Amino acid sequence: MGRVLVTRQLPAGGLDLLAGHELVGPKPADAPYSSAELFALAPTVDAVVSLLTDVIDEPLLAAGASGRLRIVANVAVGYNNIDVAAASRLGVLVTNTPGVLDETTADTAFLLILAASRLAHEAEEDLRSGRWPGWGINQYLGLDVHGATLGIVGYGRIGRAVARRATGFAMNVLHHSRTPTGEDGYVADLDDLLARCDIVSLHTPLTTETTHLIDDRRLALMPAHAVLVNTSRGPVVDESALADALHAGRLFAAGIDVFEHEPTVHPRLLTAPRAVLLPHIGSGSRATRLRMARIAADNIAAVLAGRPPLHPVNP
Ligand code: DGY
Repeated sequence: MGRVLVTRQLPAGGLDLLAGHELVGPKPADAPYSSAELFALAPTVDAVVSLLTDVIDEPLLAAGASGRLRIVANVAVGYNNIDVAAASRLGVLVTNTPGVLDETTADTAFLLILAASRLAHEAEEDLRSGRWPGWGINQYLGLDVHGATLGIVGYGRIGRAVARRATGFAMNVLHHSRTPTGEDGYVADLDDLLARCDIVSLHTPLTTETTHLIDDRRLALMPAHAVLVNTSRGPVVDESALADALHAGRLFAAGIDVFEHEPTVHPRLLTAPRAVLLPHIGSGSRATRLRMARIAADNIAAVLAGRPPLHPVNP
């Protein structure tokens, strides 16, 4: 029997596969563990089930590895919250939950593409606050999504799932990724793609190369009628530069699900016009979040049984 630290409450049934093991946590009322508490617990457990809000850094991994820690299973496809290089050096496995959240996250990206392009948020706010004077031919004039050119930055599973949806809207789909795909619509130069698209949707992982990938200079390359959507990771976009572009009318609209310093949102982005802002709900359907928890449990169950994990992110 292994001892498994569960940092936060997971969807009911998500950890059923770990039934034979001793579970530590989550804390009552789903309170987060402090870093001192995590530090003290890490060497006493074989495995940690972590969320993207848990910072699993080198000191914590070293504390774990000095005891019995063998695996950190992140309940997310992204793992920028974990120092994977340090984990590898220390012999701690790191796993993620790829695949199961692609379609749900692509649904969210498309929700933002539609809502931002058609000014759904501003229109709804006016209606709810009694500012809508009745139908008017010049009100809430948005950008047509059907027939628009969509640029997908990062052409992995989620980017491709967005592209599939876009074909149903008769969109012209271009894509950019670091490695040439050799497929129709590939644009090698990101600057070129940004200048050619009406709508751009970001699907890159967060790395040192993709931090502030969309900065002031690149925002200025986008046409003034364009829409930017981000469901990847907040720091991929320079939030302050995005807020400036929206306030200045240099960008038509934005749909943003992820932020640089969650849960804080840049104050100028909160007041920016034509911005649809969601609290990181990309993979947030009941079924998908349950599947993510089950995959994390599966990864831990395998390692505790002496088998390789299903979804390792380090060798
Ligand atoms: C992930 O899995 O990385 C997502 O951001 C969670 O919604």
